Amino acid sequence: MSVTQGKVIKCKAAVAWAKDEPLSIEEIEVDPPKDGEVRVKIMATGVCHTDVSGKRGILPYVRFPAVLGHEAAGVVESVGSAVTSFNVGDHVLTIFLPQCQECVACKSPDQNLCEKFMVSPEAVGLLFDGTTRMKCKGKSLYHFLGTSTYSEYTVVDQSQVVKVSKEAPLDKISILSCGVSTGYGSPIKICKVKPGSTCAVFGLGTVGLGAVMGCRVQGAKRIFGVDINKDKEEIARTFGVTDFLNPKDHQKPIHEILIEATGAGCDYTFECIGVPEVLQSALNACKPGGQSAIVGVPAEGKTVTFDPYKLLYSRVWTGGFYGGFKPKDDIPGLVEDYMKKKIMLDEFISTSMSIEEVNKSFDLLLQGKIIKALLYFN
Ligand code: APR
Ligand code: ZN
Ligand code: ZN
Repeated sequence: MSVTQGKVIKCKAAVAWAKDEPLSIEEIEVDPPKDGEVRVKIMATGVCHTDVSGKRGILPYVRFPAVLGHEAAGVVESVGSAVTSFNVGDHVLTIFLPQCQECVACKSPDQNLCEKFMVSPEAVGLLFDGTTRMKCKGKSLYHFLGTSTYSEYTVVDQSQVVKVSKEAPLDKISILSCGVSTGYGSPIKICKVKPGSTCAVFGLGTVGLGAVMGCRVQGAKRIFGVDINKDKEEIARTFGVTDFLNPKDHQKPIHEILIEATGAGCDYTFECIGVPEVLQSALNACKPGGQSAIVGVPAEGKTVTFDPYKLLYSRVWTGGFYGGFKPKDDIPGLVEDYMKKKIMLDEFISTSMSIEEVNKSFDLLLQGKIIKALLYFN
């Protein structure tokens, strides 16, 4: 039992008081976990583009004032009375996508979209009992994606934490909590890329590089990496990109360049940015019978038009959250793969910073200067 069990913990957090305002470092109060919840001491939390989009208020998953952050690793500080599968001291990753293990999706072998993820607009920012566990200056703070990891301590439902090996370095594996897994799983679980195929990955951030790594593991022969930032070429090649394309270097639309380069188009394309025009381009770059996956998260309310003949010619337009992985079933294996050096993680981490520098880390990501920033609380 920890000394803080059952007590309110005062700790440091980055608070997003209002849409598009810089995050502010505050002392907040974190309540003890209720029945099916666990309170986690966060050891490292990553900066994902979804946090930046959350701060900008363009996603359907945010309500202010909020504690953002969803990609993290930590240690269980205390557990609620109904929690049976976690103990104080367990090493865990927080996951935005729950796996309740009871709903239709969780019981299906080929579906990862747990019903607990489908919260109504009124439930955004609340834990599953409809309340919050964090306060600052007398005001309740909303949770973000049920995780809120930009706080030294956070309370998470037990369906949104995954126990991992204590042998693994928590800081490195924290990035399996979202970005890397989201990209890496897409060619493996969502498209099931076949050996010898030709793939194109649009957007070479953490998610895109994860997708490149997945294409390579599946035995893709040729992997195009598409990015408007020329500085991404070098790192993309280390992950397995064979051909780098910068749309800015070409007069023609990039899907035409890809069709010319491959003959009929790619077998598989992955959109890892969340931009409607790029989603179209990724579909157009597929050959008949190919698959295009939506991996990036577009701003709320954005729509895409497409030529129906693209699908009549038996292309498959697909997508999914978290790379199609089921967090509790699949993450321990990914951690093991990292320990056995079967997958790269260290190479994603460009910089480590203190939580005080969270706004700087957002700027560096938007400027394309880093792949992954890890934030620490001391
Ligand atoms: N065409 C090609 N590349 C682009 C374009 C474009 N129009 N716009 C942006 N990019 C590139 C950027 O240069 C950057 O390299 O896409 C990459 C995006 O990477 P990050 O900003 O690091 O984002 P990441 O964390 O990988 O997330 C990507 O997945 O989880 C979601 O919400 C997240 O939608 C976001 C996406
Ligand atoms: Zn479920
Ligand atoms: Zn993320």
